[in-house]
Formats: sequence, structure tokens, C-alpha cells
Amino acid sequence: MSDPSSQPEPLEPLADELEELDPTPDDAEETAAAPTETPPGPIIVFNHVNIGFNDRPVLEDVSFTVDRGQTLCILGRSGVGKSVSLRLLMGFLKPDSGSILVEGREITDLDEEGMRAVRKRITMVFQNGALFDSLSVRENVAFPLRERGGLADDQVDQIVNRLIGLVGAEDVTENLPASLSTGRKRAVAIARALAAQPEVVLYDEPTTMVDPLIARRLGNLIQRLKRQLGFTSIVVTHDVRFAESLADTVLFLDQCRARYFGPLAGFVTSADPDIQEFLALDAYILPLE
Ligand SMILES: Nc1ncnc2c1ncn2[C@@H]1O[C@H](COP(=O)(O)OP(=O)(O)OP(=O)(O)O)[C@@H](O)[C@H]1O
Ligand SMILES: [Mg+2]
Repeated sequence: MSDPSSQPEPLEPLADELEELDPTPDDAEETAAAPTETPPGPIIVFNHVNIGFNDRPVLEDVSFTVDRGQTLCILGRSGVGKSVSLRLLMGFLKPDSGSILVEGREITDLDEEGMRAVRKRITMVFQNGALFDSLSVRENVAFPLRERGGLADDQVDQIVNRLIGLVGAEDVTENLPASLSTGRKRAVAIARALAAQPEVVLYDEPTTMVDPLIARRLGNLIQRLKRQLGFTSIVVTHDVRFAESLADTVLFLDQCRARYFGPLAGFVTSADPDIQEFLALDAYILPLE
């Protein structure tokens, strides 16, 4: 966790890491160890978290952890609190009780100022992309770099070009978001999230409302970012197959509880009838929006 009063970190590491995105698989392992001071232990901890609205519980005694560089997929039916979990991590919601640690630091008692520092480490890719309508794709991706400051225009251009190349949006750099398909908007939103140099990227339902081919591309992209840049990711999804392609660990929320938390393999082979039912039905149910 960085000191909230500290200066923005230099952006050179991102430029260096982006260099590594060229297809040179030999170097991929090295880049996974990117962050400088790596405190031991999980990067994210939920400890006995409770939250409800209007006397209706949503999460009860939910605990899970995410290790650095790992991908956690949060699965569960509509309304079980998947998005609420992400919003708790971003500090948009506060739990009624329990503890949430980011890089070893309790965040539940932080004010907006304190959360701003946390949000430099954790970025969320919203479902609709939440891009700035009046800015081109290029300017959208450049936004976090300019906001952070300390880079010359040509350095910004260079990093933006690499990020746009990374998500395969080279052909739409000068377009406005309104002209892009949902899948493209999401890819651009991912590029913009990465420009902020986060440690952890949260994705809320990245595959809803896109066709299976785009869903697979977005999945490959998230996977590649993890392997090549060592990002930690939390991916909320209804889509078990998508989760299978990405997850190191799975959190299955059911009736307010963490019904399963553990490795992907244990989830898909679980004997729990509710998990089996969820896995079986998933093949037939379209995600709700
Ligand atoms: N700010 C809020 N005020 C009141 N109720 C809320 C608020 N945020 C979420 N809820 C309620 O909490 C429950 C869980 O919501 P959440 O958005 O986390 O579901 P979800 O698992 O993400 O579902 P979906 O798969 O449909 O996106 C829902 O019943 C929702 O109505
Ligand atoms: Mg949701």
C-alpha cells in the first residue's frame, strides 16, 4: 500500500513492461515479478464480511483471499452480491462488519482521501466501459497517464499506442466510443484501466452482451495480462466456461454465503449439489442484464 501523501510513482516501469508485450515468451516470466516492494501474504483479504441493505442481508460472513498475480473468479446467480463485493473493494460501499485488507492495510475505515490512494492500486473495468463520450479512444486511454503527469507527449503517445495494440484497437484510435461495439468498448476500457498502472484489475461481467468470439478474445486478453504483466485480477462472471479458462481460484456466492472458495479444480469437481446444479444450469441460462 502506498502512502496516500506520496508522489505518483514514475511511469517508466509501465513503459518497460509494455516493451515486454512484444511476442517474446522467454521474457514473460521475468515481467511477472514487476512490483517493487512486495509485502508477503495475499494482496486482497475479505475477513468475515457482512453487508445488507434495508435489513436484507446480501453477504454474510464472507471470507476469501487473492494472492498476487492470481485470478479469482466470483461466480453465482443474479443478485447474490458479486458486484457488491467489487464495490466494497473499491470503497464505494462499506461493510456492516468484517475486515477488508488491500496489500495488508485495512480499508474499511478509510475516508475518500484514503480510498483515492487505494484506487490507484485497484482499478475497476465497468460493464459499460464508462468511457468518456466526447474523447476519442486514444484520448480515453491517455487520460490516466495525463492525469498522473510526469510524461512528455511523445512518451504518452508511445504508451498509448502499445496499450491500444495490446487490446487490438489500432483501427479505431481516433473514433469516439459511441461508434464502437460493446466488445470493443470493453477492450478500450481495459486499456484505459491498465494505463493507470494498477496492481489489481476488477472486471464486472466482462462477457455479458458480447458474442462468444469476443468473449473468448476478452478472456485471452485478461489471461495474457496476467501472464505477461503479473496483474492480479478479480473477474465477476455468470459464465462458468469463461471462469474455467481464467480462474486460479473461485468464490461461489450462494444465499449470502461463500459456498465455495478454493482452487478452480475443486469447484468444478465439487460434490455439493448446489454447485453441481449451478454448473449444470449454466450451460443453458443466458446471463441476465
Ligand atoms: N446500493 C444498494 N442499495 C440497496 N440495495 C443494493 C445496493 N447495491 C446492491 N443492492 C442489492 O444487493 C443485492 C446484490 O446485488 P449485486 O449487484 O451485488 O448482485 P450481483 O450478484 O452482481 O447480480 P447480477 O449477476 O445480476 O449482476 C441485490 O439484491 C441488490 O438489489
Ligand atoms: Mg452484478
